[in-house]
Amino acid sequence: MSSRTFLLTGATSGIGRAMAAQLVGPQVRLVLASRSRSEGEAVVKSLESKGEVLFRPLDLSSQRDVRGFAERFLAEEPRLDVLINNAGCQSQKPARSVDGLELVFATNVVGPFLLTRLLLERLKACAPARIVNTASTFAKGLDLEDLDFARRAYSDTAAYQASKQADRLFTWALARRLEGTRVTANAFSPGLVTSTGLYRDAPRSTLRILKVVSLFAGRTAEQGADTGAWLATAPELEAVSGRFYEKRKERPCEFRGRDAEEALWATCCRLSGLPE
Ligand SMILES: NC(=O)c1ccc[n+]([C@@H]2O[C@H](COP(=O)([O-])OP(=O)(O)OC[C@H]3O[C@@H](n4cnc5c(N)ncnc54)[C@H](OP(=O)(O)O)[C@@H]3O)[C@@H](O)[C@H]2O)c1
Repeated sequence: MSSRTFLLTGATSGIGRAMAAQLVGPQVRLVLASRSRSEGEAVVKSLESKGEVLFRPLDLSSQRDVRGFAERFLAEEPRLDVLINNAGCQSQKPARSVDGLELVFATNVVGPFLLTRLLLERLKACAPARIVNTASTFAKGLDLEDLDFARRAYSDTAAYQASKQADRLFTWALARRLEGTRVTANAFSPGLVTSTGLYRDAPRSTLRILKVVSLFAGRTAEQGADTGAWLATAPELEAVSGRFYEKRKERPCEFRGRDAEEALWATCCRLSGLPE
């Protein structure tokens, strides 16, 4: 088989870093993308003896940066076989992106939406191809009428959970649009992985709860990454699309429905300046 190109966001830490180690290997060109160049280069160094791997800087919270990244990627990389939207963040305090959007929604939803849309024709040209989105079971409370938390109190958990609900709606709307193209779109939950950077700024009280929960339900970054790497590579999944997985098992998703999916899609188009 000829070499396939994988683009993995958020590989400088946690689940993405573990997934990069699971994906690197023969016949794979692995492009890692996130903000920290020094961390990115360190991950490249740790993996380069195992296969072809390179780092490209990307800030998903900035639409200008995402557009610049996509332009460079399309100019440099003739192939894109698998796009893994894994990068994500939480924010203890309400904050705005450079584009004026709520920061967590901008980073976890609008940035990946824009990146995916800008790279979609390349994925189609390389079909069979795959899109894998790192979602979460820790998801609820999406209010498209109040993404800025103007009418509700902001909390790190509420903003994060809303963004993770949106990640799933995005995946299902995308999968429907990709029917017949041989490009698939699936989402997965890594489970609770407390060793990652996601909770680095969480208050002590939250960390105490997470510590207790993780005694029963905690997973390592490698365990969390496993389903994502499997979705990206398993031959038996080549034609499977629009599904939600955890621990390599399909699980039901409570956030389905054409109206909700299309409302999220339309919102992302409006916020990123893309046509529907
Ligand atoms: N940990 C869990 O329990 C858990 C559970 C369910 C789902 N998830 C999901 O798993 C994914 C990975 O999270 P993690 O737990 O591994 O957290 P993490 O260790 O903090 O990793 C997050 C990654 O995203 C990158 N990132 C953050 N902001 C970015 C931005 N603006 N632009 C580009 N890249 C950015 C970070 O790199 P830079 O800082 O270099 O940009 C880092 O590589 C996220 O989507 C998260 O929602 C995690």
